Amino acid sequence: MGTKRHFRVWRGDDSGGDIQDYDVEVNDGEVVLDIIHRLQATQTPDLACRWNCKAGKCGSCSMEINGMPRLGCMTRMSTFEETETVTITPLRTFPVIRDLVTDVSFNYEKARETPAFAPPVGVAPGEYRMQQVDVERSQEFRKCIECFLCQNTCHVVRDHDENKPAFSGPRYFIRAAELDMHPLDDREDRKEYAQAKQGLGYCNITKCCTEVCPEHIKITDNAIIPMKERVVDRRYDPLVWLGRKIFRRDQLDEPAYTPAPAHSAGSSVPSVHTEGTPFTSGRRGEGAPVRDDGRMDVAELALPTQGGPSPFGDQEFPLPPGHLNYDPPAHD
Ligand code: SF4
Ligand code: SF4
Ligand code: FES
Repeated sequence: MGTKRHFRVWRGDDSGGDIQDYDVEVNDGEVVLDIIHRLQATQTPDLACRWNCKAGKCGSCSMEINGMPRLGCMTRMSTFEETETVTITPLRTFPVIRDLVTDVSFNYEKARETPAFAPPVGVAPGEYRMQQVDVERSQEFRKCIECFLCQNTCHVVRDHDENKPAFSGPRYFIRAAELDMHPLDDREDRKEYAQAKQGLGYCNITKCCTEVCPEHIKITDNAIIPMKERVVDRRYDPLVWLGRKIFRRDQLDEPAYTPAPAHSAGSSVPSVHTEGTPFTSGRRGEGAPVRDDGRMDVAELALPTQGGPSPFGDQEFPLPPGHLNYDPPAHD
């Protein structure tokens, strides 16, 4: 036999809404998504909520529970005191469609902007060879279920819609880091691209994204910080600078990046003999860019996207109860 508990759920659409009160039965072992389903079955059949797997794997049921971005299907009711009111609101960073369903297209646009895996020219699918250690190194990032809780949490866009065009967000920083570690990815500029085009410099490594990731991906420590360090190394390492002074430009300059051709099933791409070659890499040596006068470019220091303290302040989770009202960003 369950107990009645008090819930507050945001109801509304893109024209407005507010938080409504419900008393719902809760049974042993239930999660917040069970309560939403019971609400739909008994009191509010029109309550909109996105979900699919109820197993923490599809990334659909992202919501904010007592101000904390979480998966509804992985948040046990035993997390809360029996007398505690549980407030459920939609993801705050994305425009609301209805009730708990938000429009997360921002993330798909950023996914589309991220350059895809680029295998070395002439190596067809089925011919890729890499060492197990390289497979394991980026395995952590491939666990991402695209729940976008990290994207919703990051203060750079959470309260600053105006930053969205310039900032891809933590989910796409781990994608850049994953490809940067990939020995067969022929693009050498992943971290430079992250800095110049994905807004890596906006991130001030607050680790809020890591804190909410249901897959426990160490987004900040294992992806963002190493990429930031390598961007700085390439640009400002005095040894790299010395190397530039010692070697002639024609000994250092790299051939321009050539994207690999798209391979379709059954296409006759020339094969590369990989038998007996345990490691195949399309990478060439990397060096810091040097200007015509032989000096390294320090323009990055003047960019508004450089690393450093955030002008936006940090977001503390869970949010104080007084801040739980939902204030959605407007649709474009
Ligand atoms: S560490 Fe902080 S600023 Fe950087 S991406 Fe994560 S939440 Fe955003
Ligand atoms: S990195 Fe974690 S929080 Fe971000 S989308 Fe992937 S699984 Fe979700
Ligand atoms: S329903 Fe799939 S992650 Fe929650």
